[in-house]
Amino acid sequence: MCGIVGYNGLLDAKEILLKGLEKLEYRGYDSAGIALRNEAGVTIFKEKGRIADLRKAVDEDADATIGIGHTRWATHGVPNRRNAHPHQSASSRFTLVHNGVIENYHLLQKAYLKGIQMQSDTDTEVLVQLIELFVKEEGLSTVEAFRKTLSLVHGSYALALLDSEDTETIFVAKNKSPLLIGVGQDFNVVTSDAMAMLQVTNQFIELHDKEIVIVHRNHVEISKLDGRIVERAPYTAELDMGDIEKGPYPHYMLKEMDEQPGVVRKIIQAYEVNGELAIDEAILQALNAADRLYIIAAGTSANAGLIGKQYFEKIARIPVEVHISSEFGYNMPLLSEKPLFIFISQSGETADSRQVLVKVKEMGYPALTITNVAGSTLSRESDYTLLLHAGPEIAVASTKAYVAQLAVLAVAAYATAKARGVALDFDLKQELAIAATAIDAIVDAKETMEQIAEDYLKVARNAFFIGRGLDFYVSLEGALKLKEISYIQAEGFAGGELKHGTIALIEEGTPVFALVTQQEVALNIRGNVKEVVARGANACLIASAGLEEEGDCLIIPHVHPLLTPLVSVVPLQFISYYAALHRRCDVDKPRNLAKSVTVE
Ligand code: M6R
Repeated sequence: MCGIVGYNGLLDAKEILLKGLEKLEYRGYDSAGIALRNEAGVTIFKEKGRIADLRKAVDEDADATIGIGHTRWATHGVPNRRNAHPHQSASSRFTLVHNGVIENYHLLQKAYLKGIQMQSDTDTEVLVQLIELFVKEEGLSTVEAFRKTLSLVHGSYALALLDSEDTETIFVAKNKSPLLIGVGQDFNVVTSDAMAMLQVTNQFIELHDKEIVIVHRNHVEISKLDGRIVERAPYTAELDMGDIEKGPYPHYMLKEMDEQPGVVRKIIQAYEVNGELAIDEAILQALNAADRLYIIAAGTSANAGLIGKQYFEKIARIPVEVHISSEFGYNMPLLSEKPLFIFISQSGETADSRQVLVKVKEMGYPALTITNVAGSTLSRESDYTLLLHAGPEIAVASTKAYVAQLAVLAVAAYATAKARGVALDFDLKQELAIAATAIDAIVDAKETMEQIAEDYLKVARNAFFIGRGLDFYVSLEGALKLKEISYIQAEGFAGGELKHGTIALIEEGTPVFALVTQQEVALNIRGNVKEVVARGANACLIASAGLEEEGDCLIIPHVHPLLTPLVSVVPLQFISYYAALHRRCDVDKPRNLAKSVTVE
């Protein structure tokens, strides 16, 4: 989703902003722009398309030491140059970039801006026009007009504003959309993600909702919307430039899939206390006190949640419901007496999940966030956090974070079971280590998956993924992976459900990927495969060692039955990756998608 950068210092702002925007590309965008402030005023460069296109459009000689930049993921108005940010007020005095959605922009426009000819179709432009209106008509200072405008707004925003009559300041504000201030010697920066500004600093200040920041070169002043000053010390971002570079890999997705065995090992290390896997005592108590867990998540994280439910129910014996966050907040089920909410989110910034968290906190219920990003919004606003330790995930398609989510959910369920005195007949630490080795074997055999993608998906229009039990949930993730990066229409199904409707779609050559990792339903799923093959499907069976039969497409190493999802998902990720490559798709930045979905 939209990304923001800003620089106020002594160096060439243009280069820092462009490099920052390149680091935000992973979030997903369709146009980009920068505004540079120098003695001559504010100059704007913006383009539809990639940062590379913007780079070409930027005047090489444009020098400035203050500037703001933006990548836009269209919400209001089609992706084109006109709607790309920055946007300017009628007189061009004010220049603004915005991430988020101004829900009442239409009402504000009608109430205050009838006489103003809008230059774009965006909600953002209303803000910059309002600021100018309040300065001109009410004689307010820029910061007063900024405050007044924000007090009228309903919605989410991260904002950076330039005033062409103020050569020293970037005005910043945040509500619901992520934004950080980076601090340094003789400069300060603004960024949606620390990664974008690691090039100049690793010291960042978190912003909370409804805060305004005056960013000067040598200091920053944070205040609440009502004017109260806030003091907040910077933290050190524990990120390494190496973690966010592609290195020798052609795509982040490939790098991140290859990292999966290491991620599982890192989780074992991170959660090991005195030779045992353990979680924080306070989290254990919260899990133990709950009569029901409510897992709330979106996309891949929701798919991981479905497996988390199995872990908590089968290992720790606590009932669990899994809900998609975009539905839950507005369509809440009857809750149990002592619920604990578990938010699963790679980014920790997903707006759909956050709106649920806000409601849950208002209702007074405890919340635990499982996330990859320490200090993210969901983590900060929950009572407890469990980290994924997966390292930055840059490709839009989530891979290593999913495997990490499964591993951390297993650790949490296992630790809870132990604390509750549930008899356990396996050592999770050992079994996770075996799973990591099994993933190694799949990563080493990626050519096989490349061939499968070629054989089954090169010309496919649609594909099905089927499984039973845990395999069903992995099928959902396999289908999501394939559709989001290769644009092949793909659906995941419970094997037994096909005959209740979907089997009508099977025709000659339809690819059907079937997972066979659960002994108790192995024969049933093989029966379902026979049903689709009889109707012309081109079936590819992926079976665990010990359950294989002649003619299976791929045999994956045997692991503990509960941990098979960590392993069986990996070939599906690789198959999707190669299918997307064969179709010449932009693997890391699939069309229309964003990595960090910060609008509802
Ligand atoms: O950051 P989150 O885990 O909250 O993101 C949730 C989804 O947007 C995300 O998993 C999405 O479905 C991915 N593109 C899947 O690969």
